[in-house]
Amino acid sequence: MAFAWNDSNFMNAYCESRPVIPQPMDKEDILRLLTCQGEEQQALFRAARAVRQAAGMDVVKLRGVIEISNYCQKSCDYCAIRPQNKEMVRYRMDVETILAITEEIVAEGITTVFLQAGQDPKSDAFVYEVIPRIRARGVNVLLNLGEKPRETYARYVAAGADSYILKFETSSPDLYQAIVGTPLAKRLECARWIKEVGMKLGTGNIIGLPGQTLDTLVEDILLAREMQPDFVSSSPFIPNENTPLEHLDVGDLQLTLNSIAICRLLFPYALIPAVSALEKISKGGQQMGLNAGANVLTINFTPKDFRDKYAIYSKERFVVSLDHARATVGTAGLRVR
Ligand code: 5AD
Repeated sequence: MAFAWNDSNFMNAYCESRPVIPQPMDKEDILRLLTCQGEEQQALFRAARAVRQAAGMDVVKLRGVIEISNYCQKSCDYCAIRPQNKEMVRYRMDVETILAITEEIVAEGITTVFLQAGQDPKSDAFVYEVIPRIRARGVNVLLNLGEKPRETYARYVAAGADSYILKFETSSPDLYQAIVGTPLAKRLECARWIKEVGMKLGTGNIIGLPGQTLDTLVEDILLAREMQPDFVSSSPFIPNENTPLEHLDVGDLQLTLNSIAICRLLFPYALIPAVSALEKISKGGQQMGLNAGANVLTINFTPKDFRDKYAIYSKERFVVSLDHARATVGTAGLRVR
């Protein structure tokens, strides 16, 4: 059965028919869904959940993140680990520390170890060393380490990494350049390399950056569609102390939830996280993310001493524990993989 996205009964009919592959959406459709409220928004979320279920993606995947270094070369205006922040105490974990934390993740039955850091070339050597040792524990390795030369990505793969997150943050080249300080084209080239060398790609945007418009948010979704990622995320902006954007408001919760739901319709099989920033801006925010079609929660296994120094989502960031994740999944009526 075919539906037009602008059919007023579309969403309810869509839920009932439960097609796995949704109809294509144009800019107008995306704009309407991005801003919908009330009944229409509830129908959007129902449709997203129906697609998630039809695609067999309604079991929540847990990842265990270790924040291995907070050194960074980039100067993103939203991020507290930028080098201009002299208040930040810097650290780089050693291999044995990472492996000890890996054991805790493995002991909880979590099958993805997620290594995250600032863009820190000095971490590459120990990342090459640690990946095969994590793999030897029978778990997958997901990386989020920034823009690297193509051969570095290839070496991560050779070492045993299978996926990599590199968010485009915003699809507007001007906005990206102004806020991140480097060209968006470079970012997209890296994303292409990540796929070419054989890793799964995760990408996504931040919602609530200064100068962003609804049109750029629509373009973000279209860019994500072009990139055909395996994982996709939308995260609300969190103002961070000691950054140029520290006095801005947090990103809009409803826009973020709608963006997650649209992504689920467009990417039925994708892993879509309900990011910790959702919980930071609103209690129960991650559960709302799951209700909007997300299916991943990332548990933070960084030991407290290090964690307090890894303040990408502000000093008082919400730290996702295993208990919180399990409770959130239960309240959303889902189960954990
Ligand atoms: N608000 C929202 N997202 C942020 N990130 C970093 N800082 C912030 C912030 N203040 C996200 C970026 C980056 C990822 C590691 O964290 O999207 O790619």
